[in-house]
Amino acid sequence: MVEICVIYDKVRFEEKTLYERALRRGIKAQLADAKSITLNTETKNMDLKLGDIILQRSVSHFRGLYLTACLESLGFFVINKFKVSETCGNKMMTSLSLVKHKVPTPITHFAFSAESAMEVINNTGFPLVMKPIIGSWGRGVFPLRDEEVANMVIEMREENDSPLARIYYIQEMIKRPPRDIRCIVIGDKIVAAIYRYSAKNEWRTNVSRGGKVEVASITKELEDISLKAAKAMGGGILGIDIMEDENRGLMVHEINNTVEFRGASSVSETDIADEIIDYVLRIARK
Ligand SMILES: Nc1ncnc2c1ncn2[C@@H]1O[C@H](COP(=O)(O)OP(=O)(O)O)[C@@H](O)[C@H]1O
Ligand SMILES: [Mg+2]
Repeated sequence: MVEICVIYDKVRFEEKTLYERALRRGIKAQLADAKSITLNTETKNMDLKLGDIILQRSVSHFRGLYLTACLESLGFFVINKFKVSETCGNKMMTSLSLVKHKVPTPITHFAFSAESAMEVINNTGFPLVMKPIIGSWGRGVFPLRDEEVANMVIEMREENDSPLARIYYIQEMIKRPPRDIRCIVIGDKIVAAIYRYSAKNEWRTNVSRGGKVEVASITKELEDISLKAAKAMGGGILGIDIMEDENRGLMVHEINNTVEFRGASSVSETDIADEIIDYVLRIARK
């Protein structure tokens, strides 16, 4: 019988629900704390006792990513794959991959110094959006509406200790309603779609910023773009974030690798955690 291991660094609604759903169906499951796993160059797969299929659910991007690299090298089947996590966890790599696979995405500029970032901004004109290439929950995502603010954001980034802060990711600001769409794709199936409306006095629509959720109907256009985006990343369990551009229609701006589904679960009729367990079992049977 297959054993599922849910790796976490913080047990949220999602990790708890996945674990409970597996047990409810009589599947052997365990929750494993990424913070307490160690291994070395001599470690064998069996030594770790992590079951057969791993759901990597670490909140910390780098912790999850590098632990996945180790586990894959020991022969574990990890969802999502290292390569998928690496691409999704980095907005620049995501943009490059979306373009390569012809998935509509906002026009985005990349610059590698403060001077060239400012040049891009001046040549492109406002409004723009600047984002850290690695980050989530809307942290550090700045709407740039004038040169004064742009200068200050660049100054702040130049003073930041992280070398990644000086990789500039500058995006056109999409003319969209005060919402975006989050689609949860599992394998080749879209299991839920929600609108996320931004909270009062907030431009970002992230649920973690107080955004409110509402069920979105899964249109053919939404399904096509979501599945195409998921495929471009290499598949798995993904949260596709989509904006509705006034003139150009749907555009993918981000793909989440460790998708949160608390918000979606609160309004969706589908049991998302159960769908994930189904997917894991399908993979285990292969
Ligand atoms: N180009 C853009 N135009 C308009 N709104 C945007 C744009 N990029 C991001 N946003 C808003 O900011 C939010 C956070 O940006 P996102 O790229 O998803 O970063 P994060 O990974 O931090 O969630 C989005 O959900 C959306 O509401
Ligand atoms: Mg997002």
